[in-house]
Amino acid sequence: MTTDAPTSGQSDLAVELRNIDKAFYGVKANDDVSFRLARGEVHALLGENGAGKSTLCSILAGLYRPDAGEMFLHGVPTAFKSPKDALASGVGMIYQHFRLVANLTVAENIALGHPDTGIRLDQKKLQTEAAELGDRYGLPIDPAARIWQLSVGEQQRVEILKLLYRNADVLILDEPTAVLTPQESKQLFTTMRQMADEGRSVIFVSHKLQEVKEVSDNVTVLRHGRNVGGVATADAQTEDLARMMVGRELVLPTRTDTTEAGSVVLAVSGLRVQGDRGLEAVSGVSFEVRAGEIVGIAGVSGNGQRELALGLNGLKTPTAGRVFIGNFDVTEASVLSHMYAGMSYVPQNRLGVGLAPGLTTEENLALKAFRKPPYSRGSRLLPSAFRSEGARQIEEYDIRGVRPGLPIRLLSGGNLQKALIAREVEMEPKVLVLHSPTRGLDVGATQAVRNQALAERARGVGVLLISEDLDELLALSDRLLVLYEGQVVGQMNAEDATAERLGLLMAGEREDGRR
Ligand SMILES: Nc1ncnc2c1ncn2[C@@H]1O[C@H](COP(=O)(O)OP(=O)(O)O)[C@@H](O)[C@H]1O
Ligand SMILES: [Mg+2]
Repeated sequence: MTTDAPTSGQSDLAVELRNIDKAFYGVKANDDVSFRLARGEVHALLGENGAGKSTLCSILAGLYRPDAGEMFLHGVPTAFKSPKDALASGVGMIYQHFRLVANLTVAENIALGHPDTGIRLDQKKLQTEAAELGDRYGLPIDPAARIWQLSVGEQQRVEILKLLYRNADVLILDEPTAVLTPQESKQLFTTMRQMADEGRSVIFVSHKLQEVKEVSDNVTVLRHGRNVGGVATADAQTEDLARMMVGRELVLPTRTDTTEAGSVVLAVSGLRVQGDRGLEAVSGVSFEVRAGEIVGIAGVSGNGQRELALGLNGLKTPTAGRVFIGNFDVTEASVLSHMYAGMSYVPQNRLGVGLAPGLTTEENLALKAFRKPPYSRGSRLLPSAFRSEGARQIEEYDIRGVRPGLPIRLLSGGNLQKALIAREVEMEPKVLVLHSPTRGLDVGATQAVRNQALAERARGVGVLLISEDLDELLALSDRLLVLYEGQVVGQMNAEDATAERLGLLMAGEREDGRR
C-alpha cells in the first residue's frame, strides 16, 4: 500500500471538464458544463436538488458516459469506462448511497478491489493498515467491525478510507453531510482540509451554504444543469451564492411568533414499538403535542423515527404504552380510526406509503375524503366532484405539472409532496404528523411545505415534525425532542435550542450524565 501524497504531472489542474452534456430521457441533467478542479483545493459544487451535481460527479467518476464534451485528467484527454477504471486513475467518488458490503469487516471493505489484495486476505495486516489510515486522517474506525454494525457516519468513514487506501488524488463527496451530525460534519471538514493540504483535490457537493462557506476554497454553482458561475469562496457573500443557486431572492419561512399552545391534541406515554428485525425500535417514549404548536423530533436517521411514526398512526401496533388523539385512545386502533380521530400523516416515503403512484393526481387528492361530501352523497360517488375538487386543490396548493388522466408518479418530488400535504391538510386534522417533509425537495417546494406547516399551526393544529434537518427543526419548532436509540434523550423549548446542543444529543451525549 502506498499512501504518499500523489504527485501530478506538470499541470496544477487536476481535472478539467469541457462542455459536458448529459440527458436522461430527453431532460438535460448537464447542459454545456465546464468545470476546473485544481490540485490541493476543496472545491464545492453547490446547487439545488436536481441541479445536476450528482450527474456531473458521476460522469467524472466513470459511472456515466457524457453525451458530449471532453474530460482531461492532469492535462491528458480521458474517458473512463467504469468507476473502477476511474479509480485506477486516481478518481474516486463517495455516492449518496453507500456501496459497502454489509457482511464483510471494515478492513475487508477497505481492501476490496485493491489490485494488491489477493484472494486470501491477511486479516491482521489489513486491520492494522486500516486502523493506521483511519488514525492518520482523523477517521477513527474499528477495522474488525462488520459494516452492518456501523452507524451511517462510520460507514462513510470507511468509504473515504477505501478511496485513500487506493491513493485516490481526486475525491468526490456527494452530499456527505446529509447523514452526519454537526460534530461529525466538522470532523469530516478537517479530514477534507488535510487531504487537500496533501495535494489531493476534493469535490464537496452540497446545497448548504454555511458548509460551503466553511470548508471550500472555491465554489461552482449549478442551476438547472448549467454552470452559472464559479467564485473563490472567500470572496462570495452567502446571499450571492443563494441567489446564484435559486435564481432569485430567497427567504425560507421560519416561525416568528410565540403563541400560547392550546389543549393537548396528541398524548403519547411509554410507547414501545418493534422494528422490522424484531428488535425494539421505540423504547418508552412519552411526549405531548398541543393545539397550535409545532413539536420537532430531531435525530440521526435510524434511531426509531420511522417506527415512532408508524406506531403513532396505526400502521404498527405498539407493544406497550398509549397514544391518545384528543380524548380517543387509538393505541390499538386501525389507520382509518386514527384518521377519523383527527390525525393526518405525511410519511417519509411519498410514493407507496403516501400516494398511490398509479392513480391520477385528482384520485390521489380524493383518496381519503371520498367517503364524505362533496365526493359522495350517501353511497353514491359524484365523479364531477373529483374534477372540481381536484382542480381547486391543484390551484390552491400550487401543484404543478399535472396532466389529466396520467398517474401522479410522473410529478416531480416537490409537487408530489404538495399533493400529499394538500390531501392530508384537507382532512382538517387535529394532529398533523410530518416525517422529513422537505427531504430532497428544491428550495421553492421547501418554502411551500414550510409555509403549509406554519399555516396549520396558525389554524390550531398540533404539528409533529420528525426531521433530520436541524435548520428546519430550528426554524419551525416551538419545542424540540431528541430521539436517540429509541428514547427521548433531551427536550427543550426552541429558545434554548442550538444546532450544537441538538447535535451532541443526537450523537448520544446525555445532558443528565446518564448513558
Ligand atoms: N439515472 C437517472 N435517470 C433519469 N433521470 C435522472 C437520472 N439521474 C439524474 N436524473 C435527472 O437529472 C437531473 C439532475 O439530477 P442530479 O444530477 O441527481 O441532481 P442533483 O445531484 O444536483 O440533485 C434531475 O432532473 C434528475 O431527475
Ligand atoms: Mg445529488
